[in-house]
Amino acid sequence: MAFYITTPIYYVNAEPHLGHAYTTIVADALARFHRLMGEETRFQTGTDEHGDKVMEAARKVGLPVKDFVDRISGRFRQTWDGLQISYDVFVRTTQASHLRLVQDILGRLYDQGDIYFGEYGGLYCFGCERFYLERELEDGKCPDHQTPPTFIKEENYFFRMGRHQEWLIGFIEDFPDWIRPERYKNEVLGFLREPLEDLCISRPKQRLEWGITLPFDERYVAYVWFDALLNYLTGLDYPEGAAFQHFWPSVQHLIAKDILKPHAIYWPIMLKAAGIDPFRHLNVHGYWQMAEGKMSKSLGNVVEPRMLAEIYGIDQVRYFFLREMVFGLDATFSEEALRTRINADLANDLGNLVARSLGMAFKYSQGVAPVPGDLEPEDKEVAAQAQDTAADFLRLFPELEFPKALARIWEFVGHLNRYIVATAPWELAKDPNAQPRLATVLYHQLEGLRFLAALLRPVMPTSAEKMAEYLGLDASQRSLLFPEALVWGGLAPGTTLKKGKPLFPRLE
Ligand code: MSP
Repeated sequence: MAFYITTPIYYVNAEPHLGHAYTTIVADALARFHRLMGEETRFQTGTDEHGDKVMEAARKVGLPVKDFVDRISGRFRQTWDGLQISYDVFVRTTQASHLRLVQDILGRLYDQGDIYFGEYGGLYCFGCERFYLERELEDGKCPDHQTPPTFIKEENYFFRMGRHQEWLIGFIEDFPDWIRPERYKNEVLGFLREPLEDLCISRPKQRLEWGITLPFDERYVAYVWFDALLNYLTGLDYPEGAAFQHFWPSVQHLIAKDILKPHAIYWPIMLKAAGIDPFRHLNVHGYWQMAEGKMSKSLGNVVEPRMLAEIYGIDQVRYFFLREMVFGLDATFSEEALRTRINADLANDLGNLVARSLGMAFKYSQGVAPVPGDLEPEDKEVAAQAQDTAADFLRLFPELEFPKALARIWEFVGHLNRYIVATAPWELAKDPNAQPRLATVLYHQLEGLRFLAALLRPVMPTSAEKMAEYLGLDASQRSLLFPEALVWGGLAPGTTLKKGKPLFPRLE
């Protein structure tokens, strides 16, 4: 099976922030999960570099646009590298192969008669780079920017969208989880109740020259969304590339609700017109709000992901993101909540479990995994819980049920902590006759940790790797895939364990 996951390509008009990091971390966790499932996986991200917004931002700092986009695109790349994001492809809309592809598709649609020349007068929001209909405005203002749009009239090229409206409605109805979660599917079907207007896909160069020139009219550049959406094909070397043959259409797009309409309406219709199969799923998440409301430069509450990771640790931030936001709903970010999660879930529950279990193995078993003896019901229960946890996790995680999947793992952490209390190895250690029982209990604790190390790999790669190291797992065991890595008994008795630093220091 092939798995292709994409993030939106982010605008380079501003530095990466927490919102971008969320989507990218979710994509990374999914990519790692599917690699562990043995699926051939491709993970793509990138930057969206044309259009008014970017031009404007470059002008403000007084840099030539190309220098400016190089700089900010580089900043995104560095941020993702710094956060250990395992992307395979980074697409920039200014790269030559993308320009060729956009022009090629535009030319094809024009020749087919899907694109025509016409005049249009309408209300235009420069912030959104799009025309608005009267009924879409709020109190006469752009709902996003809260500024009144400007009436402009100009000759432009239009893409016939209406032709494919019925097809799109039918498609969405036939594949009910194509747009997920369901609330966003319903929102899209809501838009589609009104007839679709043709999409203005050009901008005259006299107003905006920073874009891809239309192959059939030099006086115009392509509308930035038409350009941007095609990045998902550029990254696969469409049309000849082996990657395209291999990974299309098993595509999972990951976006937030802000860009639902272009992805759920323009994009499938563009593909349909170009004779390309629709992508597999559109996965839509909600918005991170700050305690004070929206994150914005003017409020001074923009959170830089790299700073967050430096202060709290990469795995800690990843865990928080995935644990805290129900996929599809909004969530509130605060450092307070992050600290609470780190102390409660990571330092206390998981960190202490690892430290205690290994500590006892060193104290009572010379730092070697012991040979388990006869099993009591409570030992069998640990093994059964480990396997149930794994089965639930493998089902919930790819369904984007991240908080549930993680809560399930933490149930098992709790189970292991209770098992330690119930079996009281420190009491067994005092009794020479209880040595085989002690060995069994210690083995079950360590094997429980091995399960945790395996399951946490997609979510907290560095910590999971450290756990594997402490457990003395060799390279071949560490590279075991799911579900082989999740068979009880994988830890060989006699394995030499390793002492290490606490995984998650407590924050004071
Ligand atoms: N360039 C377009 C996307 C083109 S894709 C063909 C764009 N860029 S953006 O820089 O504005 O990024 C928007 C995306 O960033 C959202 O869809 C989401 O993935 C992420 N987020 C930005 N702010 C966010 C939050 N506050 N919360 C969650 N995700 C957010 O739109």
